[in-house]
Amino acid sequence: TVTDPRPATLPQATLPDAQTVTEVRHWTDTLFSFRVTRPASLRFRSGEFVMIGLPGDNGKPLLRAYSIASPNWDDGLEFYSIKVPDGPLTSRLQHIQPGDQMILRPKPVGTLVHDALLPGKRLWFLATGTGIAPFASLMRDPETYEKYDSVIMMHTCRERAELEYGRQVVENLRADELIGEMVEGKLHYYPTTTRETSDRMGRITDNLSSGKVFADLGLPEMNATEDRAMVCGSLAFNIDVKAVLESYGLTEGANSDPREYVVEKAFVGEGI
Ligand code: FAD
Ligand code: A2P
Repeated sequence: TVTDPRPATLPQATLPDAQTVTEVRHWTDTLFSFRVTRPASLRFRSGEFVMIGLPGDNGKPLLRAYSIASPNWDDGLEFYSIKVPDGPLTSRLQHIQPGDQMILRPKPVGTLVHDALLPGKRLWFLATGTGIAPFASLMRDPETYEKYDSVIMMHTCRERAELEYGRQVVENLRADELIGEMVEGKLHYYPTTTRETSDRMGRITDNLSSGKVFADLGLPEMNATEDRAMVCGSLAFNIDVKAVLESYGLTEGANSDPREYVVEKAFVGEGI
């Protein structure tokens, strides 16, 4: 007989809201992405998040908020995740493999959606770390390019390897037969590192307030008439970026009150 060497932590086919893992990719020792089947009933707006997880030791589901990283036209669902060494969920989630089941509550919510912004000319996606996940969805949504002349993806991490997932999303998007053409000349990708030397460096806040990113990309200074922004990072990052956006005259919006920028936390806590 052939036995499965993996621990039997995942009871098969008995979970409520169960979905099957179809692909797993590890990017660094702290970052991985995975794809799961999409419930037929799940409709979402690119940029929203859902609760996903695994059965806990006490039998109750252990769930956490996760941005859907795939666009809404995709048949499957993609997620991009941190691995927190002692994290209740990710210490286990990092070991999932194709064929495993996980829990996905099909109730998408969130503020990083087109509906929460007033129409504009340029859309800025500002992310640190796993905060790029909602923008991996929005960057791959044709609606983004229908609504804006330019889309600027600023992603900042400490080291180059942490930028790789986002870099490949952009590369594959540019090579895509259908969306590649829409993206051409519109999508500006501006990745930076802060602790390892790379072609472009510096915090998003510094590159925005010094005007460096506008000069590098040949864009006018950010202003409330033409520019819109979506922000996703740590609490400290979000607070500091908000101050920079407000200094350019942008104000914060919400689903019920669309304005010039919207913010969501990439996670709760100080980060790993
Ligand atoms: P937890 O007990 O949840 O977290 C332990 C500690 O790890 C936290 O206090 C924090 O200090 C740190 N931490 C947690 N998540 C992160 C992170 N993403 N980056 C850096 N440090 C972190 N996480 C993702 O990996 N991908 C996502 O797409 C994602 N989307 C989210 C969307 C929202 C709206 C929110 C509120 C959170 C999101 N998170 C995301 C965080 C996620 O919900 C969990 O916190 C994370 O999966 C870790 O779970 P855990 O149980 O292992 O540890
Ligand atoms: P830095 O290396 O200068 O702290 P972390 O890994 O701590 O979550 O940070 C992810 C990235 O976000 C790092 O490049 C970090 O830069 C940057 N960052 C962290 N906090 C802020 C902040 N308050 N404002 C701007 N960038 C930040």
